[in-house]
Amino acid sequence: METLQIKDKKFAVSIPEAEILEQVRRVAGEINRDFAGREPVFLAVLNGSFVFAADLLREVKLPSQISFIKLASYEGTASSGAVKELVGLNTDIAGRDVIIVEDIIDSGLTMEYLTGLLAQRHPHSVSVCTLLLKPGNLKVNLDIRYKCFSIPNDFIVGYGLDYDGYGRNTRDIYTVVD
Ligand code: IMP
Ligand code: MG
Repeated sequence: METLQIKDKKFAVSIPEAEILEQVRRVAGEINRDFAGREPVFLAVLNGSFVFAADLLREVKLPSQISFIKLASYEGTASSGAVKELVGLNTDIAGRDVIIVEDIIDSGLTMEYLTGLLAQRHPHSVSVCTLLLKPGNLKVNLDIRYKCFSIPNDFIVGYGLDYDGYGRNTRDIYTVVD
């Protein structure tokens, strides 16, 4: 079993690349079907979603745009609870169908904050698309329209997700082993 050492933690593959790409294609197919005839604007949440967004968007066959917002609620391996906006939204979303692209929903506080922020700008619709969901940690009520995987509460890295900034550049997703 291939393992990955990042600082004090050891990780092992939990979702191989082929499984990730299969689910990314499935979700892109759902978006292509649901938004046929529309021109959605994808809003990717930096940093973690950059790999997922790149793969997802290349499977989307709709006329569409992508924009980015940078939020952070994590320090080390635990959610701090407070969401910080590090790079703001600079796209006019009034009247648009917005699809938020997120790497992982854990407590859900980041997503609750972001959907609240977007609602003030009068979009036509806001849909949430996440690569991963930890249902066991969810603290708020969220409508998650698109999801590739539900996973246990363990800390993961890879395919864009990090531990202290490291581990984003792997093709597979890894879970911490103790
Ligand atoms: P939430 O606000 O608690 O839902 O946290 C969401 C953010 O925390 C995500 O955008 C991730 O960047 C980060 N996060 C949550 N769980 C993990 C994990 O297991 N590994 C790496 N980052 C995570
Ligand atoms: Mg993150």
